[in-house]
Amino acid sequence: MRINANSPEELVSARAKYYDQLAEHFLNQIGPRRFRTILEAGCGKGQLTIPLLRRLPRHVEMTAVDSSRGPYSGWLDELGKTLRKTEFEKRVRLIRSDTKRIKGVEDESVDILVSNELLCDLPYDSELEKALKEFYRILRPRGFMIHGEWSSSPAVEPQAFLVEHWPSWTPDQLFAIMRKNGFHKFQVSYFGTTIHFGYENAIQELRSWGANQSFLKRYDKLLKREGIELPPEHIVQCQK
Ligand SMILES: C[S@@+](CC[C@H](N)C(=O)[O-])C[C@H]1O[C@@H](n2cnc3c(N)ncnc32)[C@H](O)[C@@H]1O
Repeated sequence: MRINANSPEELVSARAKYYDQLAEHFLNQIGPRRFRTILEAGCGKGQLTIPLLRRLPRHVEMTAVDSSRGPYSGWLDELGKTLRKTEFEKRVRLIRSDTKRIKGVEDESVDILVSNELLCDLPYDSELEKALKEFYRILRPRGFMIHGEWSSSPAVEPQAFLVEHWPSWTPDQLFAIMRKNGFHKFQVSYFGTTIHFGYENAIQELRSWGANQSFLKRYDKLLKREGIELPPEHIVQCQK
């Protein structure tokens, strides 16, 4: 499915629709498993957190972890502010921490662990392994984890810029490294919904990924004619 954000006025609702469908996909993959605790690693400002909370039974408690540093500085505070305006505030514990060393979460205390666009921020084997060891530590035996990130394919210009800027792990690489770190029952699914950004939104999106003026100038005609589309996501899941 393609969600259109042709004009700036459509952007907020397009993103909300996208994350709503992504939350639905995550929960479909979690399936009928019974759980009381869910932890979202790299929750950011809560774009996925809030639609997940809307769909989760009231007895489920969520922990949302984010380091909120560098380009993401202030994002966890933003989530805190958003939560205060909702009925979900009491059900969520926010933790400012690095996922490579999660503070304040006990061993084997989490039933389900989710993340979206986090693994691509851990681009070296050593970093990803440290995070996986932490996930293994906090998940209860047979606990389930699921991670989504943009797929690197198809990498056509100018979207390829996003992928180059934000390289993702392939599902094959994730399978190997997750298996090495003790996880099993590995599966992959794909989330094919994308947002199509019209010219002004495309410029804003590309800028937010670090595109400079000369890049934008080079692709100006193409952007005017076609805009850009977000790549699809691969979603990997496995069990402790
Ligand atoms: C691309 S954003 C994705 C945010 C959100 N999950 C979403 O789908 O919109 C990546 C998030 O991961 C967080 N992050 C990156 N590396 C991290 C780390 N090592 N520990 C904790 N959070 C991290 C960033 O602060 C940021 O909020």
